[in-house]
Amino acid sequence: MKIKNICCIGAGYVGGPTMAVIAQKCPEVNVTVVDINEQRISAWNDKDVENIPIYEPGLSEIVREARGRNLFFSTDVDSAIDQADMIFISVNTPTKTYGIGKGMAADLKYIELCARQIARVAKDDKIVVEKSTLPVRTAQALKNILDHTGNGVNFQILSNPEFLAEGTAIDDLLYPDRVLIGGDIDSDEGKEAVNALVDVYAHWVEKDHILTTNVWSSELSKLTANAFLAQRVSSINAMSELCEKTGADVNEVAKAVGMDTRIGSKFLKSSVGFGGSCFQKDILNLVYISKSMGLNEVADYWEQVIIMNDHQKRRFAANMVRTLFNTVSGKKIALLGWAFKKDTNDTRESAAIYVADYLLNEQAEIVVYDPKVKTEQIYADLDYLNTRSSEENRKRVTVVNSPYEASRDSHAVAVLTEWDEFLKLDWQKIHESMLKPAFLFDGRRLLDRKTKEDIGFEFYAVGS
Ligand code: NAD
Ligand code: UDX
Repeated sequence: MKIKNICCIGAGYVGGPTMAVIAQKCPEVNVTVVDINEQRISAWNDKDVENIPIYEPGLSEIVREARGRNLFFSTDVDSAIDQADMIFISVNTPTKTYGIGKGMAADLKYIELCARQIARVAKDDKIVVEKSTLPVRTAQALKNILDHTGNGVNFQILSNPEFLAEGTAIDDLLYPDRVLIGGDIDSDEGKEAVNALVDVYAHWVEKDHILTTNVWSSELSKLTANAFLAQRVSSINAMSELCEKTGADVNEVAKAVGMDTRIGSKFLKSSVGFGGSCFQKDILNLVYISKSMGLNEVADYWEQVIIMNDHQKRRFAANMVRTLFNTVSGKKIALLGWAFKKDTNDTRESAAIYVADYLLNEQAEIVVYDPKVKTEQIYADLDYLNTRSSEENRKRVTVVNSPYEASRDSHAVAVLTEWDEFLKLDWQKIHESMLKPAFLFDGRRLLDRKTKEDIGFEFYAVGS
């Protein structure tokens, strides 16, 4: 079976880049990405590709090449479903904010709405692909909804979780460590569906990097991968606190430990805490699933990864207050970086939000500079916490478009995102413009201690 028309529901951080790459690599396949968010779709269709709604290195070039040729963005969800032989569901699956499982379980209402819409619109057989990250056994629920349409349409459900990381999405998509496809491999129809998706990826991914499994293994592998990755960050961050108390340096420890080939060197960078839309949400989901199956020890084990991460963010901010003579009330503090990591404009669950909130509770005046994040996003992130009124957030937080302006007359500067440009700043100039003593806090182990101390900074870095 050859796929000719793909529809992707959800034009977000995953749907947009993933479909752009599929369209670029499979010029004979028509790819339509649909979303209910009109603003997002019109940004994807903006004449100037630099205005597409997601910033990822290399993405705008691919969109420029494929858009209008075989890559389309639209709000007409029904038509795209109707025309497609394969439908990816790539909508958001946030943590529930209400009802049973509030604060833990994944909210599957958007997924269910998609399934019902597909069930209503489809007139011929379709392959439905779970691209969103979902609790294990969600495919069962999807199948239940789709199989009760009564119009004789057959659906095959595949799980094809996405492992891309933001900031490196295009490279991750072009050169994936593996592509994972779960399907009903015990039936001929299931195998045919799996092979159809394998053929799509085989346009640019070697066959031995395309892994096929049963659906449940595929769904659970995604949660497992994120839990393992986040666990490494929490493990090294736990050690960072011990390093600060003992004179050990967490970078040296990470290097020594990471050279053990059984451990490996990646994902051992100590930080102010991990952020991003996935790690916390997916681990909470894993904890919830485990608890609901009565696996309390499994749940507690993974929950500790989140507890450690919350502690790391709080402890970083508390250390700032303590260092600034136990008070930041009325003091100007510059935060460099708001995105949850460099090379993305995404701020979801960014540690910077929690550090800012903590400092605002201590009555600090905050000035933020981030090269990619928009001012309104920064206020929206703080408003979302509901700690204080949005008027007060606007009064006490200023967003500027230069790191020098942010630092001028400040008591302290904190680096919260590891943007490359922070390495190249004129730190001498920054020091001169600050109040003295000038405190510099490095939440990313980005800056060199010696040169900063030589300039005259009081320098503090996570894990040393
Ligand atoms: P996102 O919020 O950026 O995008 C989701 C989009 O889906 C939104 O634009 C929303 O308007 C749209 N949508 C929701 N319901 C819809 C409906 N019924 N019809 C049409 N459009 C609808 O989310 P994202 O970051 O792209 O994540 C999507 C999924 O992928 C999540 O399950 C996430 O866990 C997973 N994931 C994300 C990443 C990442 O780095 N962001 C990586 C791997 C996996
Ligand atoms: C993650 C997974 O890596 C990806 O496979 C999955 O598909 C989605 O979730 P993402 O959240 O985009 O990707 O970024 P990632 O690079 O994993 O970083 C997550 C957070 O951990 C960031 O805040 C980052 O700064 C932090 N981090 C990462 C560290 O603090 N130290 C590290 O060594 C690595």
